[in-house]
Amino acid sequence: MRALGVVILGFIMLIIAICLMPEAANAAQGTAIYYDPPYIPSACYGRQNLGVMVAGASDQIWGNRAACGKNYRVTCIGGANLAPHPCKSGNVVVKIVDHCPSPGCNGTINLSRDAFSKIADLKAGKVKIEYTPA
Ligand SMILES: *[C@@H]1O[C@H](CO)[C@@H](O)[C@H](O)[C@H]1NC(C)=O
Ligand SMILES: *[C@@H]1O[C@H](CO)[C@@H](O)[C@H](O)[C@H]1NC(C)=O
Repeated sequence: MRALGVVILGFIMLIIAICLMPEAANAAQGTAIYYDPPYIPSACYGRQNLGVMVAGASDQIWGNRAACGKNYRVTCIGGANLAPHPCKSGNVVVKIVDHCPSPGCNGTINLSRDAFSKIADLKAGKVKIEYTPA
């Protein structure tokens, strides 16, 4: 009887783990840098103004323009250099409007200055992030 209880408990824990997994599976890690306004023109939308919560996609996620218009929720998870206290709490949702081509692009996502400053200290310049489609 006790063995059955352990098996049932095991199953319940497995189901809970599976339910929690999709979120973890979707979260990719990378780095973020930022660029200064004006944010137009952009590679995706030309002179159309999509606001300030925008970003440039590195080749890693650009996908030959497939990234245009996609939204990502970005969270700062740590420093990418020696700057003290790089992260702020919370997260920010940005729309991909531009391309940050390599070589030269020094991060996975190039956030607008406005977006970067919501989740990190501008002085850090570059931080480690977790990002998920939003
Ligand atoms: C992104 O960052 C680089 C610097 O690493 C900058 O030269 C580039 O213009 C930025 N802009 C966009 C839209 O990606
Ligand atoms: C690129 O990022 C690294 C840290 O990951 C930094 O040491 C380097 O100075 C950066 N290069 C540019 C051009 O910003």
